[in-house]
Amino acid sequence: MYPKCLLIYLALSLTLGHVVAQSEPGEPSKSSSDDLFSLHKQLVDIESISGSEAKVGDFLVSYLQSHGWTVEKQSVNGPRFNIFAYTGNNNPKVILNSHFDTVPPYIPYKVEGDKIYGRGTNDAKGSIASQIMALKELRRESPDLANEVGLLYVVGEESDCSGITKANELPLTPEAFIIGEPTENKLALGHKGRLGFQVISEGVAAHSGYPELGRSAITQLVNVASVLNSIVFPGSHPILGSDTLNIGLIQGGVAANVVPASANLTVGIRIATNPMEVWETVQKIVGNPLGITLKLTSAKESVLLDTVEGFETMVAKYGTDYNCYSGKAKKKFLIGPGSILVAHTPNEYILKSDLITAVELYKKLIIRLLNPKM
Ligand SMILES: *[C@@H]1O[C@H](CO)[C@@H](O)[C@H](O)[C@H]1NC(C)=O
Ligand SMILES: [Zn+2]
Repeated sequence: MYPKCLLIYLALSLTLGHVVAQSEPGEPSKSSSDDLFSLHKQLVDIESISGSEAKVGDFLVSYLQSHGWTVEKQSVNGPRFNIFAYTGNNNPKVILNSHFDTVPPYIPYKVEGDKIYGRGTNDAKGSIASQIMALKELRRESPDLANEVGLLYVVGEESDCSGITKANELPLTPEAFIIGEPTENKLALGHKGRLGFQVISEGVAAHSGYPELGRSAITQLVNVASVLNSIVFPGSHPILGSDTLNIGLIQGGVAANVVPASANLTVGIRIATNPMEVWETVQKIVGNPLGITLKLTSAKESVLLDTVEGFETMVAKYGTDYNCYSGKAKKKFLIGPGSILVAHTPNEYILKSDLITAVELYKKLIIRLLNPKM
């Protein structure tokens, strides 16, 4: 850097420092929202589809270290790792958590007005950027409180819970565990569980000119599909509502002139009630048609969450890493910027104003938890 540039740089930093000092409480200063958007952009710019999260992990590690955090990397498998960071207590009372993997495909960062488009802008790099900013601000304003807050960022949330499952082994006993996922900045009252199963159909192959010599695996399967679609699950939960079924994948067959010997369905049920009771209902209603086998692949309970006064609330109809979290945190929260309705879509975006609000909300929640008098 040339001496002249250095002087301009110093003058600029002093001016910016001045702006920070003068901003109204509650109003984000220009420089802190710039910091927020810049961190958010850097996170989104690095592709991190589940399974290849290491690059964005490396970025997070160096970002947090250069801002004074003590950072631990926890290996998950191969080059993949979780990140645990803290400033004071290495077994902090509050943990801010989210995931740094995304669903495919990668979509580049693009700003249009107040909207920031791109994969992960919302789910969940918006949560990560605003959590880190909230804690950075808290470290300036109340370092004692900030020293009781840790950051736990994991891989694999969008695929198989592998990150949080590994993180369960860390010797952490937080009083409060806060997951950041898109909830439109509202505290979730709870979220659904999930039941996954396959319907496997085995028939007898034959030439399509002589169908009476075979038995169509697809015809058998389509009958089961229509039975599944007609199920009305009897139970419901006062907060989470009813169980809903989706046939998400159908596979099988060879060609129009072959009676198919095999076909299958992959089915997911969002569980509001009890996964095993729902599974029994499915088995009972489907019965034992010829050539059909049902195979359970996963069952996750629904999760009820905590709230505090002064926050709006919502119900999340999706799953989160709480489905695999086995820690004993006394209180569990779920809150983050952005709408789940655009997450995982080609138009994934987040509003700049929602990111700024999320920083305030995370700070407010932490302060409420650690110092209820404030
Ligand atoms: C489902 O069908 C596809 C296509 O025929 C096949 O590759 C797959 O192995 C089947 N899965 C099961 C569990 O039978
Ligand atoms: Zn997510």
